[in-house]
Amino acid sequence: MRKKIVAGNWKMNTSIQEGVELAKAVAAGAAGTPENVGLIVAAPFTHLASVAEVLKGSKVELSAQNCADHEKGAYTGEVSVGMLVSAGCSWTILGHSERRQYYGETDEKLVVKTRLALEAGLGVILCVGENLEQREEGKHFEVVTSQIENVLFNFTAEEMSKIVVAYEPVWAIGTGKTASAEQAEEIHACIRKVLAGKFGEEVAQDTTILYGGSCKPSNAKELFAQEDIDGGLIGGAALKADDFLAIACSY
Ligand code: 13P
Repeated sequence: MRKKIVAGNWKMNTSIQEGVELAKAVAAGAAGTPENVGLIVAAPFTHLASVAEVLKGSKVELSAQNCADHEKGAYTGEVSVGMLVSAGCSWTILGHSERRQYYGETDEKLVVKTRLALEAGLGVILCVGENLEQREEGKHFEVVTSQIENVLFNFTAEEMSKIVVAYEPVWAIGTGKTASAEQAEEIHACIRKVLAGKFGEEVAQDTTILYGGSCKPSNAKELFAQEDIDGGLIGGAALKADDFLAIACSY
């Protein structure tokens, strides 16, 4: 049975102090969320070590939002997978559309980063999703399929057990426009089919596929009720502990 996960992506928000308070509130409320739902918070790099301390002893796992594409060395300003592990992370998000759009993150780079993360023992939340233009041109299945193929087809079935996919339609991120449950489900089902074609039905059935894009307490239940939606990657609503926990309780 694949795992259900609700993950919060704080993006570039909160001071360290605010992040610690938010993590405390999430950790305190985590015990009241369904046992079969895993919780993850993806904090900014500067916050990771402090947030890790707060999360100790709770079921909430810590994630980064990105990692460097080199193991170590003269790469000023970058943060390596080894640093993330030493800060207490067990996950990293990779390929978020904001990184693809603003920081030139390519599928090729994501293969390198995913490999480094897996080798360091981190789980990877790989984001995929089409933008508005691609959706309006009816290319959404094609775009998402090629993102999955370009990155994940370089890994083995065994490595897939450490990878979670997050479908985040760019037009739904931070816009208040959620994909309808049907729109999300048809892409999730497509992703699972693409994975089945490469890795076999068992791996595809075991892969957790999250939905992200204006997911909030009022719409989470309907989204999570879909057969191929295994939880959410939450942006704005993850900055309020009550909303984040309420989303986790939508199962
Ligand atoms: P919002 O929930 O703010 O739309 O952000 C979604 C997201 O990008 C999570 O990674």
